[in-house]
Amino acid sequence: MCGIVGYIGEQEPTKILLDGLKELEYRGYDSAGIAIFQNRKFANFKAIGKIVNLEEKIKKSNFSTDANKPSVGIGHTRWATHGKPTELNAHPHLGQYSYVVHNGIIENYKELKEDLIKKGHKFVSQTDTEVIVHLFEYFFNKDKNATKAFKDTIEKLKGAYSILLITQSEPNTIFFIKHGSPLAVAKGLNSEEILFASSDAPLIGIAKDVAYLEDGVYGVAKPDGVVFNTDVNWTTLPSSKQSAQKDGFRYFMEKEIYEQKDVVTDTMIGRMDDEHIIFDELDDKILDGINEIKICACGTSYHAALSASYLFERVAKIRCNVEIASEFRYKQPLLTKDILFVVISQSGETADTLEALKMAKKASLKTLTVCNVDNSSMTRTADFTILTRAGIEKGVASTKAFSTQTVVLWMLSLYFAQLKKNIPQKEIAKNIDILRTIPNSLKVEDSLHEKCRRLSKRYLHGHGFFFIGRDIFFPLALEGALKLKEISYLHAEGYPAGEMKHGPIALADPELFTIALMPEHLYYDKIKSNVEELSARDSTICAISPLDFELADDFIKVEKTKHYMNEFFEMLVVLQLFSMEVSIRLGNDVDMPRNLAKSVTVE
Ligand code: F6R
Repeated sequence: MCGIVGYIGEQEPTKILLDGLKELEYRGYDSAGIAIFQNRKFANFKAIGKIVNLEEKIKKSNFSTDANKPSVGIGHTRWATHGKPTELNAHPHLGQYSYVVHNGIIENYKELKEDLIKKGHKFVSQTDTEVIVHLFEYFFNKDKNATKAFKDTIEKLKGAYSILLITQSEPNTIFFIKHGSPLAVAKGLNSEEILFASSDAPLIGIAKDVAYLEDGVYGVAKPDGVVFNTDVNWTTLPSSKQSAQKDGFRYFMEKEIYEQKDVVTDTMIGRMDDEHIIFDELDDKILDGINEIKICACGTSYHAALSASYLFERVAKIRCNVEIASEFRYKQPLLTKDILFVVISQSGETADTLEALKMAKKASLKTLTVCNVDNSSMTRTADFTILTRAGIEKGVASTKAFSTQTVVLWMLSLYFAQLKKNIPQKEIAKNIDILRTIPNSLKVEDSLHEKCRRLSKRYLHGHGFFFIGRDIFFPLALEGALKLKEISYLHAEGYPAGEMKHGPIALADPELFTIALMPEHLYYDKIKSNVEELSARDSTICAISPLDFELADDFIKVEKTKHYMNEFFEMLVVLQLFSMEVSIRLGNDVDMPRNLAKSVTVE
């Protein structure tokens, strides 16, 4: 996702901004740019692709700033959402005398843009961001008060946004707000120096104190200090860059589990209003002539696909088949033109999934990829792409990729239902209300994490784990088992709960650990009977449920909610935390488990 940096001070700003942007490369981006203001003059550079391209461009221009004179600068790495990755769409965006960088999405940009065009403002990009700078100048032109103009501007914006804005009308000043996307402000090592960044990695070594802004905090920064609209907490910056990238977490996996609540917000932004699902990246004729959806994927993405198959059939009423990509490739599948072929992949490079996609293309099927990496082989190959917007996932064991994929696929099932008009509009609106509560279901409470940590010590041995669930909780059980085996190296299987008595129950004894997913809102009584059967045969039961269950040897209580999808995401977090804590106790490398690679580009 996009990254932001900002600088006020007397050091050479170009290097500080470029170095800062490099530290944010891990967030993923497709273009970058900076704007610097010194001696009442602006300089602005933008480039597509890597930051070295931007660096080259600046070098070639012979641009330099006067040493020991105050300057102000902002920089941005852009991960395209509205408009293609072009120089014109790259940030910073210019109005007539101001530049802005923005991370997030302005949901009401179309209305704002139309209104500003009527008022005579000229737009050059396809982005949502450009409205911010025009809105600011519109308000400034009215009463020549930059602080008020910034406040009036942010009051008009809907969506998620972190913004830095600089303007000739107020030199050596950065106006800023944090609302939804991350933003930190820091005091530099030298006096009269203020810095901004999307995470603290760019600030380490060049700043001493930092305030990680909460949503709704905005203000005005000048060389001699920062004025906020509210109190903020300043803390000392960590000293190591490696730990900074982990934002204080022990492992990338842990950080990525915790950030799921934020990234799924990014996944949904701009893709729904109160009553409709909106996928601008799709064509509303996508289902014309389609009778079946076939999904191919591997590993965790395969589990997201299986989860989706329940939703496509139940919600959208479209037949859906899911296949493991490596199997699909060689089975000589029947590919008929009434199939919408969907691939799901975090990396967009997994060899088996990519080959399956190529086979579908060759058979002239309509193809769609649900992917986290733009410009990957799969997004370049498929007819349509929906980006999951999880940001870079560093832990080898996938976490936030799965939650964002599942959210996209759930939204897609609603979108298809909407296109086919086969569920009432109010049912879609109800689902949208539930979707909006999912970030909260993904929030990691300290008490829950502590419970998983304490319980983990009882599950370090035994002759195996069965993760069981029914319906959409079966693929979740598969995912829980995969997480555990990947990073703990313990044997674990995911199984449909109702299938245990057809064989695996023969394994039941106290050393067989059953992790039972027992949602209140989806076949509770059925799964309860299945767990009772295992308990009667002395299997050790760890139940995860919002409802108390006396037969459980261990019990992890999740919040009581209104819908099974809330329970799905709450239990997902429990499974991820549990695996991670078992792995830590066993002394394994959580982020780089043995024998595994993040992107499997070979067959
Ligand atoms: C599990 C995991 C793998 C990947 C699989 C597919 O934690 O990371 O199972 O899910 O290799 O990768 P993508 O989604 O990149 O196609």
